[in-house]
Amino acid sequence: MRAVVYAGPRSVEVREVPDPRIEKPTDAIIKITTTNICGSDLHMYEGRAAVDEGKVLGHENMGVVQEVGPAVDRIRVGDRVSVPFNIACGTCRNCVTGWTSFCLRTNPTEGVDGAAYGYSQMGPYDGGQAEYLRVPYADFNLLTLPEGNQFENDFTMLSDIFPTAYHGTELAGVEPGDEVAVFGAGPVGLLAAHSALIRGASRVFVVDKEADRLDLAKRIGATPVDFGAGDPVEQILDATGGLGVDRGVEAVGYQAHDATGQEHPELVLDNLVQVVRSTGGLGVIGVYVPQDPGAANDPAKEGRIGFNYGKFWQKGLQMGTGQAPVKRYNEHLRDLIIQGRANPSFLVSHEVSLDQAPDAYEKFDKRVDGYTKVLLHP
Ligand SMILES: NC(=O)c1ccc[n+]([C@@H]2O[C@H](COP(=O)([O-])OP(=O)(O)OC[C@H]3O[C@@H](n4cnc5c(N)ncnc54)[C@H](O)[C@@H]3O)[C@@H](O)[C@H]2O)c1
Ligand SMILES: [Zn+2]
Ligand SMILES: [Zn+2]
Repeated sequence: MRAVVYAGPRSVEVREVPDPRIEKPTDAIIKITTTNICGSDLHMYEGRAAVDEGKVLGHENMGVVQEVGPAVDRIRVGDRVSVPFNIACGTCRNCVTGWTSFCLRTNPTEGVDGAAYGYSQMGPYDGGQAEYLRVPYADFNLLTLPEGNQFENDFTMLSDIFPTAYHGTELAGVEPGDEVAVFGAGPVGLLAAHSALIRGASRVFVVDKEADRLDLAKRIGATPVDFGAGDPVEQILDATGGLGVDRGVEAVGYQAHDATGQEHPELVLDNLVQVVRSTGGLGVIGVYVPQDPGAANDPAKEGRIGFNYGKFWQKGLQMGTGQAPVKRYNEHLRDLIIQGRANPSFLVSHEVSLDQAPDAYEKFDKRVDGYTKVLLHP
């Protein structure tokens, strides 16, 4: 089959690779209909996350079940399914409490709990930017969707970024009437704003400097804040009579930068500590890593990010972090889509074939104007 593979820093190629096959009785093989490029893929693309040359990329996958192993009995051949990016066993201590993103069984990498498709450090699993994908523990992991192709571009957000964004608002503790600040207007930040509004937030600020992304934030009913035009903390404090917001979501990650493009891994965490009211909550879904050889300073190379912990503590703030447990939310979010209460497809800017993936990676990585979210249709 054809697949998108990592070929070195800032290089992906479409290559012929072996078809996946049923390896364990609990596996299924999915024929991919839609698979997305994610901001998380860019960490590998930019050579900022160790990944082997030749790895098939892609953790945002959906499609139709092509084949099932003999121990699979809920999922049937022909089912239309969304594949959560987490690969979870369903029976370990973390899975049974709903933390499928920290499955204790599926990732053999020493010291790392939780596995994913096509991702650095997340286990030996191939990704789904390909014609076919092997899904372990298919009965537990797969979410079934109504048959046909309705809502394809909405449902494709269920494998990662919609549940991840929603998780950010859950970790932050967003409640009806809350004012919320979301940092980052990438796909994840925009869906965090969408999620906060669905949860009844009274006002949602979205901070970024990319004009096209801020325009989208406005279109979905949020208040854009351009950090290229001035300190975002001051802008939000001004707009809230000096009080700040109740909750904050971090949807940027360790490559956070200032208006000149200089990286400061602690910048957004510091901004959130300043802008969230005392006793408020922070949901940090942007990725931070324990090793980053390309970091802007020595401590950050070892994952030590010097944000203002003293102020964080003094204000009695709370913070939740980590990979999102997609299964916790994807069924409910699917039903919000079906009932027309959520429409995450507003993000989609480009739909291309597998062969166009190298070009799409390059443009998405450069944040070329208008490249918000790229879907690949193998
Ligand atoms: N926790 C999870 O399970 C999970 C899942 C998916 C993605 N992620 C992570 O979420 C983050 C966002 O993903 P994405 O796909 O939206 O990525 P993205 O790179 O498209 O978006 C990040 C945005 O942050 C903006 N930004 C940079 N510095 C900023 C600053 N100082 N203040 C405000 N905005 C700033 C950038 O301009 C960009 O628009 C990434 O770190 C990604 O790896 C986490
Ligand atoms: Zn993703
Ligand atoms: Zn498990």
